[in-house]
Amino acid sequence: MQRMPMMVGNWKMNNTIAEAVVLAQDISNEYEQQWRDRVDVVVCPPFLDIKPVRTVFDFDRTTIYVGAQDVHWELKGAYTGEVSVPMLTEAGATYCIVGHSERRELFGETNEQVNKKVKALLDARIAPIVCVGESLAVHDAGQTADYVTAEVRAAFAGIDDWGDAVVAYEPIWAIGTGRTAAPEQAQEVCALIRSVAVEEIGAAAAEALRVLYGGSMNPGNVQSLIDMPDVDGGLVGGASLERDSFMRMVRACL
Ligand code: PGA
Repeated sequence: MQRMPMMVGNWKMNNTIAEAVVLAQDISNEYEQQWRDRVDVVVCPPFLDIKPVRTVFDFDRTTIYVGAQDVHWELKGAYTGEVSVPMLTEAGATYCIVGHSERRELFGETNEQVNKKVKALLDARIAPIVCVGESLAVHDAGQTADYVTAEVRAAFAGIDDWGDAVVAYEPIWAIGTGRTAAPEQAQEVCALIRSVAVEEIGAAAAEALRVLYGGSMNPGNVQSLIDMPDVDGGLVGGASLERDSFMRMVRACL
């Protein structure tokens, strides 16, 4: 089965609206419409930038998708500071990162909350990009497989149809550290994630599931990672903030 490669830029807390529009325009100018059948490109800016970035891509009729970096699972209510799924839909987001390790570690996001967010997104047909990955301590203790398996199962607990969900394997020790997992390491865990999916949703759906690698991916290492059979693309932080490096990584998927 041929899975469409995917390159996702996670801008994290970078780019004001004005800066975001400039970067989106730069990316749009480089993007070639004929790539639409060969790679899915997704940009995940801060909430405030979603609509302006979507507007740039719409104006250019560019098939680049816009995603959010988080969401609340309730549709509305007294949740000061939160953003709901309908708000994302109206702003034009079609993907949403969930369970990023920075949200888990810095803001205490739990597996249960990740699960509620995944359900809420799938109900609204926004594709969750579910992040899983182990800390250095877990890695060094040789418990990566158990840890990642448990995170995947927890994120999708009670969900029979994963829809267009994507799973991103992001070893925490590789995020923003310049230390990338070796391609074989990334392959091993991405294949493991697919095997967990086989048990949860069956072989055919698991075969169609896109599994990304994330963690210090850059133009220099992207090819060796996406050449791995179970690595279907990347979730990129730092290297997505600059047009040339991000577009080189997009081109690597073609
Ligand atoms: P990085 O971040 O590419 O800067 O390591 C990846 C991520 O956190 O999604």
